[in-house]
Amino acid sequence: MKQFIENLPKAELHLHIEGSFEPQLMFEIAKRNNIAIPYNSIKEIEDAYKFSCLQDFLNIYYQGAGVLIKEQDFYDLTYSYFKKCALQNVRHAEIMFDPQTHTERGVSFETVINGISKACADAKNNLGISSLLIMSFLRHLSEESAFETLAQSIPFKHKIKAVGLDSSEQGNPPSKFKNVFEASVKEGYIPLAHAGEEGGADYVWEAIDILKIKRIDHGNNAIHDDNLVKEIIKRDIALTVCPLSNTALKVVDDLKKHPLKKMMELGLKVTINSDDPAYFGGQVTKNYLDIQAALNLSKNEIYQLARNSFQYSLLDENKKKKYISELDAYFF
Ligand code: ADE
Ligand code: ZN
Repeated sequence: MKQFIENLPKAELHLHIEGSFEPQLMFEIAKRNNIAIPYNSIKEIEDAYKFSCLQDFLNIYYQGAGVLIKEQDFYDLTYSYFKKCALQNVRHAEIMFDPQTHTERGVSFETVINGISKACADAKNNLGISSLLIMSFLRHLSEESAFETLAQSIPFKHKIKAVGLDSSEQGNPPSKFKNVFEASVKEGYIPLAHAGEEGGADYVWEAIDILKIKRIDHGNNAIHDDNLVKEIIKRDIALTVCPLSNTALKVVDDLKKHPLKKMMELGLKVTINSDDPAYFGGQVTKNYLDIQAALNLSKNEIYQLARNSFQYSLLDENKKKKYISELDAYFF
């Protein structure tokens, strides 16, 4: 099973590039930018990564991202993620980035997008991994700030496929961003959002009905509402589930109690992802391995999860087919 999962061709659809920032690289970049960080060793960093909820994590995550200043920093961050993808046979990645985390500190949108997108181009050329970018609005900030970010993105529209919504969920419902999502769709961006991670099923309803999202990030709490489950299935909207994130942030207290298998049995389209791998103890492959062991998933179920990762990607139909044939050749 271990080897089967490690070599399985897969796509990652829920990954925050700022959440892939490994301690070693954080030290290196902090040093070259002359920025002090409140840790003296990798051990101290690892000890600090103990979270009791989403906000607890976000405070540390934004602090870590604060050492990223130059285009090269964003390039190094992104390329180092792709090198890990290559080791896990991740064939395609849909990468979220949080422009406001950087523009609020005086780093330009251009610096961020150029560093990230150059790494994406090099990953395609050198490693054969395809990718696309999801610009995520921070929901703890105002809709006006999201509108400013949308405006900043327009010159780089050809590099961005979708918009997302992340950060502190509770108290920041999807409806707060109704207008900016409408405007984003008019610009050609595909709408996506985190919903039902800490927020309830009502937030997932808002995300699908008001923001009209095409994929739900997390969506764990959707299963508490039978009508919502039916509606998600009817609209063929997939969920990007992140098992190790869920235990790290106490969304689920034990992987053995994770709702992933139940979601699949209900008929929901589920994918497996790492969310913020540097903070939650594992890359996407470890998410597959640990959830497989906890829920005793069959090879067939693992195949289905990998198939969903291509099927519910934002790639065009031809590319989806190409990757699914590659997966089928591996599995059958
Ligand atoms: N930003 C990075 N990771 C996140 C998560 N799991 N939920 C909300 N916002 C995030
Ligand atoms: Zn996330």
